[in-house]
Amino acid sequence: MELLDGIRTIDELRLDSQRVLIRVDFNVPIDDAGALTDDERIRAALPTIKKAISAGARVILASHLGHPHGKPSAALSLEPVAARLSELLGQDIFLPDDCIGDAAKKVINDLRPGQVVMLENLRFHPEEEQNDDGFARELAAHCDVYVNDAFGASHRAQASVVALPRAKRERGMGYLLRDEVTALARLTESPSKPFVAILGGARVSSKLRMIEALLKRCDVICIGGAMANTLLAAAGHQLRDSKIELEQLAIGRSLLEQARDRRVKLLLPTDVVVAPEKDASEGEIVSVQSIPDQHMALDIGPRTVGTFAAEIAKAKTVFWNGPVGLYENPTFAAGSIGIARALAEATGFTVVSGANSGRAVVGAGREISAKISFISWGGSASLELIQGLKLPGVEALRGNQSGT
Ligand code: 3PG
Repeated sequence: MELLDGIRTIDELRLDSQRVLIRVDFNVPIDDAGALTDDERIRAALPTIKKAISAGARVILASHLGHPHGKPSAALSLEPVAARLSELLGQDIFLPDDCIGDAAKKVINDLRPGQVVMLENLRFHPEEEQNDDGFARELAAHCDVYVNDAFGASHRAQASVVALPRAKRERGMGYLLRDEVTALARLTESPSKPFVAILGGARVSSKLRMIEALLKRCDVICIGGAMANTLLAAAGHQLRDSKIELEQLAIGRSLLEQARDRRVKLLLPTDVVVAPEKDASEGEIVSVQSIPDQHMALDIGPRTVGTFAAEIAKAKTVFWNGPVGLYENPTFAAGSIGIARALAEATGFTVVSGANSGRAVVGAGREISAKISFISWGGSASLELIQGLKLPGVEALRGNQSGT
């Protein structure tokens, strides 16, 4: 596949006794009490980490977490992440308190084959986000081999994903990066038709470029969630107290026109679940023509789920991004669960992307999530790839000419 041409996988790199630095994306949600609320990104990197361990590498993991603005911050330490990874691997993880400097060097020098060190949050240094060569050289001095498995960070031109691999001759990709790019490329490089996209989430504005890219490739686009409210309002419906992006109404109208011009079937909800408040414990199913005063649309209704599911059943390729309702409140989760179920029953190639839709699928149960062809935890990187953009972190892995 063109996107990965000239990039070696971890299987093609010498690992035995080598100091192997794996850039992972452990930017995971952590609550106010410092506990991890979701470990999917850690689990997704396990195959690559286990491969390095079993090959006898001396494993160095590097990640960012949140936005510490170039300064150490206890709240954004990778400590809870290291603790969770240690449980999942069933072995100790060393965590020096800085990713560069003497303490990190000492721990790395003392590592034995199969042992693992996690470097502290790379963004404690402003040079990480500046893609600084000097900082990258300090990281490069830690390792003999560089592996990028941080697909979710590969759209960022930052030191650990761009300057660092350029400084290493022995470099390649982990399994997660390979699998993410391979799955998402099936949506951009001649997808099997019919190609159906289901889009949800809060805002049209944040997904505009992706919608425009999908309008060029999809046969059907089904839109739910708060994003659909803006398009329904653009089409002239009264949405009452529903969340709408008023400043996006003109863009909404233009999207509806583009779909018509391109003969893309763009489906909006015909019924919705409404309530006066987001934390309501009961909702009412109404047609989009009759949303009561002081109510807001918070999920798609059963008739809409049926219409979207019928398109999913006919598709050869399905892409879902963004929940179609306020799924965090169980009162408004039925629409997203219905879409997850329809994808699980589909015979086509199915991809779910976006942390919230991924969580909706995982929350719907293992019997559903196991039947989805691919769940991407790549966030914005996935969206950029789907738009056809090149990811700097992937490009930096190509070839083996430069570096030491
Ligand atoms: C993500 O969570 O999408 C990636 O880890 C990138 O994080 P960032 O948006 O903070 O660069």
